[in-house]
Amino acid sequence: MIECDHRMDKIANVTVLGSGTMGHGIAQIAAMAGFNVHLRDVEQRFLDNAMDKIKWSLNKLVEKNKMTKESFEQTLSRLVPLVDLKEGLKNADLVIEAVPEDLSLKRIVYKEVSAYADPKTLFASNTSTLPISEMANLTDRPGSFIGLHFFNPPQLMKLVEVIRGHKTDQSTVDTLMAFVQDIGKSPVLVQKDVAGFIVNRIFIPLVHEALFCKERDGVTYEEIDAAMKSKLGFPMGIFELADYTGLDVVNKASQEMHQRDENVINPHPLVEKLFEQKKFGQKTGEGFYSYTSDKYERKDLVQADALSFDPIAMLAVASNNAGWLLSNGVCSRPDLENALRLGMGLKKELLATAQEIGTKRIIDKLYELSDKYGKFYSPDPYLLQLAD
Ligand code: 3HC
Repeated sequence: MIECDHRMDKIANVTVLGSGTMGHGIAQIAAMAGFNVHLRDVEQRFLDNAMDKIKWSLNKLVEKNKMTKESFEQTLSRLVPLVDLKEGLKNADLVIEAVPEDLSLKRIVYKEVSAYADPKTLFASNTSTLPISEMANLTDRPGSFIGLHFFNPPQLMKLVEVIRGHKTDQSTVDTLMAFVQDIGKSPVLVQKDVAGFIVNRIFIPLVHEALFCKERDGVTYEEIDAAMKSKLGFPMGIFELADYTGLDVVNKASQEMHQRDENVINPHPLVEKLFEQKKFGQKTGEGFYSYTSDKYERKDLVQADALSFDPIAMLAVASNNAGWLLSNGVCSRPDLENALRLGMGLKKELLATAQEIGTKRIIDKLYELSDKYGKFYSPDPYLLQLAD
């Protein structure tokens, strides 16, 4: 076991493990911020695909005058894609792991990485739902291990949730909070390692609730999505966002969260069914909607469709999970709203919307739903107190 008696003052070299949706984006922003980046994956074809996506994204930024042609070239020159893990970890000050969300795979990865990385190298995982303390214990350096949870697309979303495990040293927290700022992002420190951290605790249950609303209220995907945008201030509809995030990711996150805490989610079977049918959303061309490209593609939602759906149950479930985070000391109300604004692009504060619509109305809805469908919907004490 490596004792962490050092303070890593300066991170210069970053190794990102896994070049999928999140890994390639994280590597890109670190390189854009001036860090030397090794992007490692197990096969060259994954890396080629990742480099294509990075170039597409950098080109978009140049087109929009958010980046000069010169920084485009410099960013690419700081990014080295490679398959050889030992070579990939050479001189790494920080390893950010973004491999698929499978604990047995992570166990293998961390065993190898612990063996090859310098004792001073810090480890961070971009896991969206797995327990940080458990993952830290897969390594030889739990004091130097932390959760760094980025949001899709990492190139555009400002938030990074920073999650400490039981053994994470304060110096690791301080170094990584500073690193997140150095890559131009805003860190929010998650005080407790709970299922879904902050944002996924709100987002993932909403995908399932939206499916129940569709059945109960006899509405369409488009009507629900249009209402989420125009009535609740979401930048994307919830089905649009789930397809964009990937139903493989949403399904895995749902299962992990439900396993860690069965009150966090009311699972709707269609999520798993679509996953089994390999309908992962935008990346496979079909999910809740159909797509023509695996790059960024939006649905044309018509505002008038919002009139057909009252999103009170969606707001009730989101506010109730937000209440749970606050009554359990996971974050403060400002940090919660900040996380939702920067991680999900919410244009209005969630709890302000709840108060505007009426906390009493929301609580009545939760009682109605809990009478019919069980304790997942029981109002959290924080909401009850808000209504007093
Ligand atoms: N790099 C560069 N540019 C990109 C890009 C990328 N990776 N991805 C998209 N763009 C471009 C688009 O092509 C588009 O450019 P265009 O105007 O030339 O077509 C532009 O950015 C976006 O413009 P739009 O008008 O289409 O979109 P918005 O103004 O709505 O902004 C958004 C897009 C920032 C993605 C916004 O819709 C948003 O905030 N959506 C919510 C995303 C979200 O909630 N993410 C979190 C999901 S949960 C998660 O990731 C956690 C995980 O653990 C599950």
